[in-house]
Amino acid sequence: MESLIHRLKLLPVLTGRLSDFDTTAAPDTPQALFMQWLDEALESGVVEPQVTTLSTVDADGAPDARSVMLLDVSEEGWHFAANAASPKGRQLARQPRAAMTFYWPGTARQVRLRGEVRPLARELGLADFRSRPEMSRAAILAARQSEVLEQADDLAQALAQQLARLQEDPELASEHWTLYALKPREVEFWQSNEQRRFTRLCYRLQGQQWTRQQLWP
Ligand SMILES: Cc1cc2nc3c(=O)[nH]c(=O)nc-3n(C[C@H](O)[C@H](O)[C@H](O)COP(=O)(O)O)c2cc1C
Repeated sequence: MESLIHRLKLLPVLTGRLSDFDTTAAPDTPQALFMQWLDEALESGVVEPQVTTLSTVDADGAPDARSVMLLDVSEEGWHFAANAASPKGRQLARQPRAAMTFYWPGTARQVRLRGEVRPLARELGLADFRSRPEMSRAAILAARQSEVLEQADDLAQALAQQLARLQEDPELASEHWTLYALKPREVEFWQSNEQRRFTRLCYRLQGQQWTRQQLWP
């Protein structure tokens, strides 16, 4: 068996379809470029391009990160949903700043965002909860996210219990399920290139205006 270091080195990377990234023709806002790149990721068959890595910091300033699903992009920012009582929810309540990282292999592109995170109106969290299939709502209601699961049976039991509650009262909702928006101050678009001349375009918010600059790769 080859060494891990060798096997990892042999793995192909950045094999996606390359495009020219003409930064002089980039739109004025990162929202517009993000939507364009997301559409191109979908056209190129990127699997699950809505999945992003959300990074937060805990009470000791130690970074934490996990996958979440992007639900929308609006004036408020990049939306995702989470349980406010989960570790990430508690981290955001304490330190409402985060980063999001998207990697889309099919187009060999990365997008990074950094900024403030705010919970959106409670009704929006409720509407998102109610739009979910029954099993997903039961899972949210049963969540004791990131606590130690002593026995696998405990989860099955909690899910069955919450499913029964939902069937009795379909209006039942989670008080913790929250929609959040990350409002970036900085968004960086990274495009691979055959000659390793990667293109990086960074948008920064200055007052109410977006400025953009190319960065050394
Ligand atoms: C593909 C994928 C998508 C996920 N989407 C979400 C999501 O939208 N919201 C969420 O709270 N957790 C989501 N999770 C679970 C989180 O990654 C994480 O395990 C969980 O939220 C607990 O995180 P925490 O302990 O940092 O709070 C997803 C996991 C995967 C693998």
